[in-house]
Amino acid sequence: MKRTAVVYYSMSGNTEYVAKTVAESVSGTLIKLTPKKEYPSKGFSKFFWGGKSAVMGDTPALEDYSFDAENFDRIVFGTPVWASSFTPPLRTFIKDNREALSGKEFACFFCFSGGGADKAEEKLKKFLEIGDFSAILVFVDPLAKKSAEKDEKIEEFCKKLAEE
Ligand SMILES: Cc1cc2nc3c(=O)[nH]c(=O)nc-3n(C[C@H](O)[C@H](O)[C@H](O)COP(=O)(O)O)c2cc1C
Repeated sequence: MKRTAVVYYSMSGNTEYVAKTVAESVSGTLIKLTPKKEYPSKGFSKFFWGGKSAVMGDTPALEDYSFDAENFDRIVFGTPVWASSFTPPLRTFIKDNREALSGKEFACFFCFSGGGADKAEEKLKKFLEIGDFSAILVFVDPLAKKSAEKDEKIEEFCKKLAEE
């Protein structure tokens, strides 16, 4: 099986729920990204500051994490959709590791609540400078609106990763 890192950011747990499930299923390594200055997670500020940061293409400083690209064949990125884009901590990670990431296989999953996942996917592909992901999973709030159907989608995604 390919050696897999699951690199994710999650503000309110939905992406983390999927990241943990995927990492466990493919015996992957979880790498959680945490901004040094966390975004506000309540009320109007939550959408304003996070949305603005995503639109501006910010690359916030991250708490230390351990990632040695040599140990992995594949990176699975997990992110919420923010303002129809992927989240700024992922942007920082990719920017900081761009050279080390070259030649890796990429898969990803997006959690969102209404729209913009297709745009976020395009933006992430463009930022990674790749044609496509080897596997992709997109769904609405898989923890806050948990369902058997969504859990099955996670399982299918893991199966696809395991087959490769
Ligand atoms: C700053 C901000 C911007 C968001 N923008 C969008 C958006 O453009 N489209 C959408 O469908 N959901 C949007 N959402 C909702 C989240 O993508 C969604 O609730 C996701 O499941 C949260 O993942 P998490 O629990 O891992 O943080 C936004 C949430 C925040 C905090």
